[in-house]
Amino acid sequence: MTVALLHSSIHSLPLLARGKVRDNYAVGSDRILMIATDRLSAFDVVMGEPIPGKGALLTEVALFWFDKLGHIVPHHLTGEDPQQVVTEAERDQVRGRAMLVKRLKPLPVEAVVRGYLAGSGWKEYQQSGEVCGVKLPAGLKNASRLPEPIFTPATKAEIGQHDENISFERMSQIIGGELAERVRAVSIELYRSAADYALSRGIIIADTKFEFGLDEHGTLTLMDEVLTPDSSRFWPVEGYAEGTNPPSFDKQFVRDWLEQATVDGRPWNKQPPAPALPAEVIEKTAAKYREARDRLLGA
Ligand SMILES: Nc1ncnc2c1ncn2[C@@H]1O[C@H](COP(=O)(O)OP(=O)(O)O)[C@@H](O)[C@H]1O
Ligand SMILES: [Mg+2]
Repeated sequence: MTVALLHSSIHSLPLLARGKVRDNYAVGSDRILMIATDRLSAFDVVMGEPIPGKGALLTEVALFWFDKLGHIVPHHLTGEDPQQVVTEAERDQVRGRAMLVKRLKPLPVEAVVRGYLAGSGWKEYQQSGEVCGVKLPAGLKNASRLPEPIFTPATKAEIGQHDENISFERMSQIIGGELAERVRAVSIELYRSAADYALSRGIIIADTKFEFGLDEHGTLTLMDEVLTPDSSRFWPVEGYAEGTNPPSFDKQFVRDWLEQATVDGRPWNKQPPAPALPAEVIEKTAAKYREARDRLLGA
């Protein structure tokens, strides 16, 4: 049993950055030690309390997918044991929750694929009949399955900011048309392959976000985390119905609780600091992450 980790402190390696969830350390000039902490963000604000077990579960799920989808596109894992690049005293912070990866040049876009209408996509569709410039048939409902998965890129926001949806044309201007085409094709293939598998395990992947980088040869490489409850919207098949908001395997408990939480008698304004999460919300959220993992990978 390892203790929950809110912030890692590895002194033997230079800290590159702390993201919302992961702490990245440089390993030489060409690799990164990515430690998935137990931090949880909701509404793009990081909560003050860890979700015990979350970092390890995310890492386990991502490793599973990298292996399963490796035939579609190269990924950033080096295959080396992360424990070997830290001191013995630091291994507890790394074991089971870290990845040792190639340091890539990140593309400044997020590759979002949607197979179902949900969240901001559903909102946009109701207003315009489109999602990120992709025209959709009339008559779709909340949570409808789309005729084909669609690619709806976003810019990668700075910490504390929200990602912004962009059109495919805009993405092509930012990274170049040829690369944009390739990112779109690969992302849709990854989504299709993963969604088929997940469905066989009782999970609908409504949408997901991939991140890519270029290696030293300019090869497009899948990076970050993939197809986890943090980067995807997972719905249990048995709770699914068109025209409803299906329950999801992620932060729904936290979001619902935050929506009704008050700070000094007023609704929380969604700016840091977040109100402290009650133990019950933490435990229920941890259980959801465990359930997603168990369904996908087997108990
Ligand atoms: N192989 C890689 N090379 C360089 N950067 C990477 C690689 N894999 C992931 N990253 C970056 O590491 C960070 C992961 O930390 P995370 O907590 O997920 O950050 P964020 O708050 O941006 O989601 C992200 O900024 C991601 O783009
Ligand atoms: Mg991230």
